[in-house]
Amino acid sequence: MTSQPGHLSPRLDEIIADHIALEGPLLPILHAVQAEWGHVPEESLKPIAAALNIGKAEIHGVVSFYHDFRREPRPAHVVRICRAESCQSQGGRALERDVKARLAGRSDVLFEDVYCLGLCACSPAAMVDGELVGRAGTDEICERVGA
Ligand code: FES
Repeated sequence: MTSQPGHLSPRLDEIIADHIALEGPLLPILHAVQAEWGHVPEESLKPIAAALNIGKAEIHGVVSFYHDFRREPRPAHVVRICRAESCQSQGGRALERDVKARLAGRSDVLFEDVYCLGLCACSPAAMVDGELVGRAGTDEICERVGA
């Protein structure tokens, strides 16, 4: 994130200009907007729609269809505890329950569902702020988010 959403215009204009000549520029523009501000701000939709000569509703549809696009700023920490079979068999469900209980009330922590992180041999697995954690435990996950 290099600028604040309240100052979208010059940077948004650059992003649009950098991508508008691409075939199918909407997704690359939305990815660049999210990379810049951490989400797709509502105020970015009208200028993008105008530049691409499409409706805001079409952009809303794309942003809501793809789960990787966020409409709101992401909290400081993102915790993903694997819910797939290998991790479930190694206590993943209890781990998730314990971590959520310990971090209850923390508005800066977002829990996201994930089904297999490719770390099955080290179950239960988690991902905290983009870093994989094998043989994850409650203390380690909580420490990584400052609890
Ligand atoms: S099942 Fe959890 S990492 Fe594969």
